[in-house]
Amino acid sequence: MNRIAVVTGGIGGLGTAICRDLARQDRHVISTYRPVNHDKALEWQEERRKEGFDIAIYEADVADFDSCKEMISKVEKEIGQVDILINNAGITRDSTMKRMTQEDWEMVINVDLTGAFNMTKQVFAGMLERQWGRIVNISSINGQKGQFGQANYSAAKAGLHGFTKALAREGARKGVLVNTISPGYIATSMVMAVAEEIRNKIIEEIPVGHLGVPEDIARTVAFLTDDAAGYITGANFSINGGHHMF
Ligand code: CAA
Repeated sequence: MNRIAVVTGGIGGLGTAICRDLARQDRHVISTYRPVNHDKALEWQEERRKEGFDIAIYEADVADFDSCKEMISKVEKEIGQVDILINNAGITRDSTMKRMTQEDWEMVINVDLTGAFNMTKQVFAGMLERQWGRIVNISSINGQKGQFGQANYSAAKAGLHGFTKALAREGARKGVLVNTISPGYIATSMVMAVAEEIRNKIIEEIPVGHLGVPEDIARTVAFLTDDAAGYITGANFSINGGHHMF
């Protein structure tokens, strides 16, 4: 079915693979992009077209409630009601607690955690009303295990799974299923920004011995948002090469 799927941060590393896999499932895919990335988003859209994927792009700052509201109402007018939401947009501002500024904390919480609220708030009531919806929150291994230098990011990502579990209870009887994916270290620009020496030490800790690829995450997003995936909700999928087992 040609359901409508919104992927926040869809033009990024994980987001691009997620958009492709949802499009392969015949979803009508929409990616959000931050206002500063307008030209980059247009180029990205053209690249996807060359690959055979027709993906709509809409400007939204997930950290800004009104921007999300405006974006979703535009999508509803121009395309239709949103059936699938992937809260994928995320940033890091890594530093030890000793050096972390209030701004480092607030930026990460506002984008990575409040951003999921700001987007979900726009679509959740409609999903309940139509008795069908899928939401996937992209968290992180570091929300599960905590990471040195990531008090802000680990807090936001752990918070996302609490958000998932509460929404899963609210949506369950109305066909709205909500899950978390917790990626481990995936070869995206976010992970490649970690100093090489530190990154190599982290890779040594991963049982499979290498970083993951975005497609490892995208495949699970497609699975969880499938019409046939009707009995999975409130779950957290660890996709981390064995890096954190519990
Ligand atoms: N555990 C315990 N101690 C550690 C440590 C660790 N993992 N890492 C460093 N330390 C110690 C150091 O030995 C050092 O000790 P001394 O002061 O006694 O020498 C002290 O802590 C300071 O360490 P750094 O020199 O590394 O501190 P820094 O300020 O230069 O760098 C940092 C801090 C930027 C946070 C850096 O440690 C870092 O980049 N860490 C990796 C963070 C990380 O994994 N980010 C993931 C980004 S990708 C992502 O988030 C995606 C996802 O979901 C997985």
